[in-house]
Amino acid sequence: MESRPTRLVTIATVDPDCAVIADAAEILRQGWLVAFPTETVYGLGADATSADAVAKIFEAKGRPSTNPVIAHVDSPEMALTCVAEWTDEAQALATAFWPGPLTLVLARSPLIPDIVTAGRDTVAVRMPRGRISLALILALGRPIAAPSANRSTGISPTLASHVAVDLGGRVDLILDGGPTEVGIESTVVSLTTREPHVLRPGPITATMIRHALGGARVREPDSHIDLGSTAATSPGQSPRHYAPRTPVFLSYPQPHTEWRQVRTARLGLLVLGNVPLHFIDHPEVFSLLGTPEEAARQLYATLQSWDRKGLDAIHVVLPPNEEAWRAVRDRLIRAAHSEAREP
Ligand code: TXA
Ligand code: MG
Repeated sequence: MESRPTRLVTIATVDPDCAVIADAAEILRQGWLVAFPTETVYGLGADATSADAVAKIFEAKGRPSTNPVIAHVDSPEMALTCVAEWTDEAQALATAFWPGPLTLVLARSPLIPDIVTAGRDTVAVRMPRGRISLALILALGRPIAAPSANRSTGISPTLASHVAVDLGGRVDLILDGGPTEVGIESTVVSLTTREPHVLRPGPITATMIRHALGGARVREPDSHIDLGSTAATSPGQSPRHYAPRTPVFLSYPQPHTEWRQVRTARLGLLVLGNVPLHFIDHPEVFSLLGTPEEAARQLYATLQSWDRKGLDAIHVVLPPNEEAWRAVRDRLIRAAHSEAREP
């Protein structure tokens, strides 16, 4: 892919500069790529109604064409233009959680080109609550297709500098709105199945979805990863995902004898949840992320910065297997399926 100049422009999150937004929308209108912050992570955006523009996303990320992308909308009304049918469940979930970190998978409309949905008859739609992202969609007047703004299988960016390092020369404009608020990707729920099915755990839990749907049954993500199988349940949920280059090893809130002995290696130790710390040797870098929200917000930035330190390994003490921790656990378990340990 030919390298092209990447412009980085700082923009306020609370009251984004209209001229900067208008400029970014014009770049999208002309079929080019703009990376921008949402409340979850930075997205790599293109006009979702243009197959040629969306093709540039796949090229820039090195993303397999079989993995569909989310169409970001500025309102439920715009979501309606993307889908064949706006169901009662979709309305209930949009009322409860939009704008916010919930992505709905529904039958698609003809407005959305094949490349966005990877040829499927469904489309993923989300109305983000990040002001910059909302202003940008509003200014474009069309949905914005945007996966996380990282190279395929890498860590999602929560800072503009992550995007610049990963995609510099592959994106036309990066809007720098500072660190993202939530820090991990949205929950993806399919409403095309008999029961709503959470395909990717995220900030909106299955219990929250169940409540918003009046107590309906909600199918949880298939926990094939915990079981060690490599069968993927949804297109973007390959076991090796969100992975830093440094090997990641999982420990449980018990002394892990094996790594206690590795005293010469340069280790990073990441502890999630409030667990007893008496078994810790002297790691090079150490972080304790006590609550699920704090952990989500800091997780990727921590892994990104540790990845640049040339550590021999990152050891993670997983948080308890509780719903509030599910999304963070999911990302960590995927990060531990590192390339080095794939066949
Ligand atoms: O928070 C987020 O969701 C961020 C920000 C930028 O909005 N976006 C994001 O996009 O994480 P991406 O492409 O990295 O992840 C989208 C997920 C993938 O797992 C993809 O396979 C799934 O959504 N997805 C997209 N369209 C789908 C569809 N039609 N059916 C099933 N899964 C779909
Ligand atoms: Mg992604």
